[in-house]
Amino acid sequence: MEKNRPINRRKALKVLGLGMLATCVPVLSACGNAKKSKNGQKNKRLIFYFSATGNSLFVSRQIAGENGTLLSISQEIHNEHPEYEAEEIGFVCPVYCFIPPAIVQDFIARSTFKADYFFTVGTFGAHSTIFPEFVDNLAKENGFRMNYINTIQMVDTYLPYFDAAREMADQKNQLIPEKISAVLAAINKRENYILPVTDMDRMICEGYYRSSGRDRQRPTVTHSEKIVFATDACIGCGVCTSVCPHGSWKVVNGHSVAEGECENCLACVHNCPQKAISIIPTPPEPEEPNRNARYRNPNVSLADLIKANSQI
Ligand SMILES: Cc1cc2nc3c(=O)[nH]c(=O)nc-3n(C[C@H](O)[C@H](O)[C@H](O)COP(=O)(O)O)c2cc1C
Repeated sequence: MEKNRPINRRKALKVLGLGMLATCVPVLSACGNAKKSKNGQKNKRLIFYFSATGNSLFVSRQIAGENGTLLSISQEIHNEHPEYEAEEIGFVCPVYCFIPPAIVQDFIARSTFKADYFFTVGTFGAHSTIFPEFVDNLAKENGFRMNYINTIQMVDTYLPYFDAAREMADQKNQLIPEKISAVLAAINKRENYILPVTDMDRMICEGYYRSSGRDRQRPTVTHSEKIVFATDACIGCGVCTSVCPHGSWKVVNGHSVAEGECENCLACVHNCPQKAISIIPTPPEPEEPNRNARYRNPNVSLADLIKANSQI
């Protein structure tokens, strides 16, 4: 169990707040909100995932196996009593601009976790660079320690830089099953390992942040209306409204309209059955090279992603 770990000010205030609440409302505190499995036992392996196009959901399922429990971060982020306890707690998410998506960072910061073993797996397309170090620090800042952090290279879904058709045909994908098995075996053995960050990783990361001018903590946070729009091909089916992890689409007069908080995850773009959602180019980023190519992990259905992300 995590005990006596130093905690930061934010966490301390949160714990203090919960303590005061417990004094005032003993019943609430006694019930708590630690997730239990269906038979009331402590969960063995609890995995929190975020996924826009299915890669991280697929990996989460593989790591959860038959006895693990999967919880979607875009839904758990609304939990008013985010206290979780299990023998092993894991996080699986895409790498966005070399770090975890802001929603994943926010979920970790607002929750309390208790486990014997913590792990994180990031799925990425080209370079994960400082992701392991960032996650390691994120956990420490929030009062717990990651035992294992690794990354798995898959199809890159960031359409301004990558043609999804070429990505799907890339030989790198042949290594995915092997990599997932290796990560799973390591977690099953409760290995202690944090993927090292190299000098080259730091150079790539530094170069990107300098040239893009993006915020280093929340590089992909934006407003949906600034980066995506529905073209005339939109039939108002509403898939975008239910696959968006922030619920930032609405259908007005039979046409989808983007409005609200956005993680730039492109779930709307990739999952639109009509390929009717386009990305607004934001210089210095290029225009997407192939607007006919869209991607969803072949092992994950649209219904799975809607179930994971729907805010409706
Ligand atoms: C906004 C955004 C930023 C991304 N940034 C990176 C990155 O820095 N490095 C990288 O290798 N892949 C990056 N990717 C690719 C994703 O990490 C990768 O495709 C991931 O497997 C997608 O996971 P999902 O299918 O679970 O959403 C990015 C994708 C998006 C949409």
